[in-house]
Parts: sequence; C-alpha cells; structure tokens
Amino acid sequence: MIKNPYLKGKKAISRLGFGAWPLGNTAHGQTMSETEGISLVRAAYDAGVTFYDTAPNYANGRSETILGHALKGIRDHVVINTKFGHHSDGSIDFNETRLRASVEGSLTRLQTSYIDSVILHNPDQAILEGKTGHFDELARLKTAGRILGYGVSIDSPAELKLALRRDDIEVIELLFNVFSQAPRTMFEEVKKRNISLIIKVPLDSGWLTGKYHKDMTFTDIRSRWTQHDKCRRHNLVEKMKTLTQDDALVKYALGFIWSYDAITTVIPGIRTSHQLKEHLHAEAFPFPCELKQALETFYETDIKPAPLPW
Ligand SMILES: NC(=O)c1ccc[n+]([C@@H]2O[C@H](COP(=O)([O-])OP(=O)(O)OC[C@H]3O[C@@H](n4cnc5c(N)ncnc54)[C@H](OP(=O)(O)O)[C@@H]3O)[C@@H](O)[C@H]2O)c1
Repeated sequence: MIKNPYLKGKKAISRLGFGAWPLGNTAHGQTMSETEGISLVRAAYDAGVTFYDTAPNYANGRSETILGHALKGIRDHVVINTKFGHHSDGSIDFNETRLRASVEGSLTRLQTSYIDSVILHNPDQAILEGKTGHFDELARLKTAGRILGYGVSIDSPAELKLALRRDDIEVIELLFNVFSQAPRTMFEEVKKRNISLIIKVPLDSGWLTGKYHKDMTFTDIRSRWTQHDKCRRHNLVEKMKTLTQDDALVKYALGFIWSYDAITTVIPGIRTSHQLKEHLHAEAFPFPCELKQALETFYETDIKPAPLPW
C-alpha cells in the first residue's frame, strides 16, 4: 500500500488498481451486465484493491454507475479517480464551463459526496500549458470539497514535461508499458515531486497478455489497429516470449511496471474474475531483476526507433 499525497495519507492506494473501462462495456460482442460488474468490483475490493479508475464516457456512464452501486458502504475505504472531457453521451468537449456539471454528473452516478481525484482526460497542449481556466476551476471544486485532488491523463513525455511545469497537479495518469517506455526517463522527477503516478494501458490493451495474434478481429475501441500494427505487435509479443521463456506474459508485463518505485498504482482493464485472479497472482510474483534490463534493451532496440501507435 502506498500513501497518497492528495489525500494527505488518509487513504492508502493498492499497487494493483482497477481499470474500469470494461465495466458495463461491450468487448468481443459481449456486454458486461451490471450484476457481473458489481460482483467483479466487490471481488477486487475483497482482495485488497483500493484504487478505481473510471470516466464519464466509459460505457456511456455505466462504468461509474456500476462502481457507485458496488462501492456503496465501503466508499470511504477506496480511492475513486474519474475524468473530464469525454462525456457520458459520447461527445468530447473540453469547454471549461462544462467542468462543474460533468463532476456533478460523476458524483451522482458514483453515489458519493466527493471524488478523490478528477483528471483532465487527454487535454490539448493549450490546457496543459495553463492557457485556459481548467485548473482554476478544478482548484475551486477542491476548495468546495467536491474533489480532493486533480491532475491529468496523458500519453507522451512531451505532455509529461508540460504537466510537471505546474505545481498544483497531484495525480498523473500515464500510458506506460513494456512496448511504450518513453516516459520512464522522467520517473525520478515525478517521484521527487510526490505526485501519485497511475499507469494506464499496462498490457498494451491486451497484447502483453500474450493471447492476441495478428489475425484477430477487434470490434471495440481496439479496431483502431491496422493489419500492419497487429503484425508488428504479434512479432514483438513472440520476441518477448523468448525473453521470458514463458508464454503467460501478464506477470512479467505488470512486474516490469511495478519495478519502478515512482509508480503509485497500475490499473489494468479487468473484464473477468479470471483476469482479476491473474493480476493478483502477478502482484505476488517475484519479478526477476535481470529481466528488467532485458526488457528495457528490447524497447530501445526493437520499438524506440519506430514507436507503436496506441
Ligand atoms: N485516456 C485515458 O485516460 C485512458 C485510456 C485508456 C485506458 N485508460 C484506463 O486504463 C485502464 C487500462 O487500460 P486498457 O483497459 O485500455 O488496457 P490494458 O489494461 O492494457 O488491457 C486491458 C485488456 O487486456 C485484457 N486482459 C486484461 N487482463 C487480462 C488477463 N489477466 N488475461 C488475459 N487478458 C487480460 C482484457 O481484454 P479482453 O478480455 O477483451 O481480451 C482487458 O480489457 C482502462 O480500463 C482505463 O481505466 C485510460
């Protein structure tokens, strides 16, 4: 468990967090029911998971609604992080005049009087540079006690550099995994600043489980990959299996991330109780230190010269 700066140490965050994009969502043609979602969240809580990451647009608000039902009665024992900019009606609109109403919508769906942290959901450069009033509005929501802390969800080292220029950000959600290691050179700075660092997409949207292959068809958000993207990822997964000498990659993919002590929590998307169990197993797995260097070198030689698209 790790102390959480924006909560002044009042709540601890588990190293394994819950990425709640799959809650109530449709993947591989199957929609998760509310009952399934609630029992998945309760099983995670019972196993010690205290950090939950959601957003108003995940399953058009159903992810927040399921979390609200599931966390009733245990609300004060967990940390909930939600976002602003992608709305429950499917629209993307960062107009700062919508921030307060968006947070109120999340509060209602989550059935809570406060949200632990609200982060801007991939804001553009002007927002990150502080040229807009977003952070002032977030600060007002914090003063009003509607949120306890705020920050940003970002993808690149350039965005991380901009975020680190601000002194009010307490939470950064960052894309980082074995296939996307570019921001790791800045982890020490994040740590010095006592920022809670949340790692999103730790399994490269599922590829780092080792179970996908180049001929798979994706019908959800993952339909973004071209055949070229899928072939390249397929080959990288095969190479990673030769490094781990094991086809079951989840424990290595998560262990690699946990090996950086700047990281507060890792939030794999969890769709089934089997996946939850595997993540809990990964948490207990002794990640081999020599593999860390090998996976860093793998990234430098095989990926960094031509980074993969998300
Ligand atoms: N812009 C943003 O702020 C942003 C963007 C993306 C994600 N996120 C957050 O980060 C979380 C994680 O990202 P993500 O869900 O996109 O990617 P991810 O965690 O890298 O991959 C998750 C997917 O991998 C598969 N999976 C997970 N655990 C598995 C296991 N043990 N065995 C086999 N398959 C497993 C599942 O897909 P299948 O079961 O469908 O194969 C799952 O949906 C999200 O849930 C969300 O909370 C935030």
